[in-house]
Amino acid sequence: MEYSKTIAKTRDYYNSDNMMNFHSFIYGENIHIGLYTHGHESIAEANLNALDMITSLLTLSPSTVILDLGSGYGGTARYLTQKFGCRVDCVNLSETQNELNRQLNKKLGLESLIQVIDGSFEAIPTTSNIYDIVWSQDALLYSSDRLKVFQEVSRVLKKKGEFILTDVMQSDNCPVEVSKPILATVDITSLASIKSYQKIAKDTGFEEIQIIAMPEQLTNQYQKTLSVMDQNYDELAKSCDQEFLEYQRVRLNKWVKTGKQGYLNWGILHFRKF
Ligand SMILES: C[S@@+](CC[C@H](N)C(=O)[O-])C[C@H]1O[C@@H](n2cnc3c(N)ncnc32)[C@H](O)[C@@H]1O
Repeated sequence: MEYSKTIAKTRDYYNSDNMMNFHSFIYGENIHIGLYTHGHESIAEANLNALDMITSLLTLSPSTVILDLGSGYGGTARYLTQKFGCRVDCVNLSETQNELNRQLNKKLGLESLIQVIDGSFEAIPTTSNIYDIVWSQDALLYSSDRLKVFQEVSRVLKKKGEFILTDVMQSDNCPVEVSKPILATVDITSLASIKSYQKIAKDTGFEEIQIIAMPEQLTNQYQKTLSVMDQNYDELAKSCDQEFLEYQRVRLNKWVKTGKQGYLNWGILHFRKF
């Protein structure tokens, strides 16, 4: 598949052995932001808390057809099919992650409920008006054209279908001199803010159902990642290059610092197509 330079860079990043090994060691099958209530949760528990909270905002049944955009290893899809019996299509850029997703689904006998599609959320490779819900967790930060993503989501959703997403965002008042250096640590062209998502949603024919901002969970997750990394550095270094681990450490520390200054945001955004 032909991708733009930015998308191709993200794809290489997620396809790399370093990234796969890092994820498998630290996060497991869910690589999104978790929810911490007392701070002693493991990353895996916090990540499941996030899935529990998002699903508590939806009405799900075996007849619900969901599209997960930027689906990673498919942890969300397996959670949704196993807990609610939903059918889930996963669209994801990284072919390596997708292959693992398919293998894990096969192992659990879930292949008939979960379809894994190689592709980009900026050009969703499915037909129109077929989904009850479009779901996306912490993936749209990689988009350089979120308007296009919302237009695509609107196209594939049924009338009155819902779009629920979480994303790593900047605060509405984040100055460019603050966002620029942290974006330079990753191949991301810009971060959305809650305000920018509200505008895009309005412009593309969505009404707002609910927005729950929880910026503290972003710093919680990145701090937890740093501490698990530190506690297991020697073990991690057996499967990840030291240069890669150092890069992750610098990147995460910068994001934690900026988050603590109040310039980042994270939360759940829930919209309905008119
Ligand atoms: C932080 S991970 C989140 C994965 C998953 N949503 C989860 O909760 O475990 C971001 C994901 O976005 C995917 N991604 C990035 N850019 C994409 C694009 N243009 N189209 C589809 N997927 C993309 C990556 O492959 C990666 O799996």
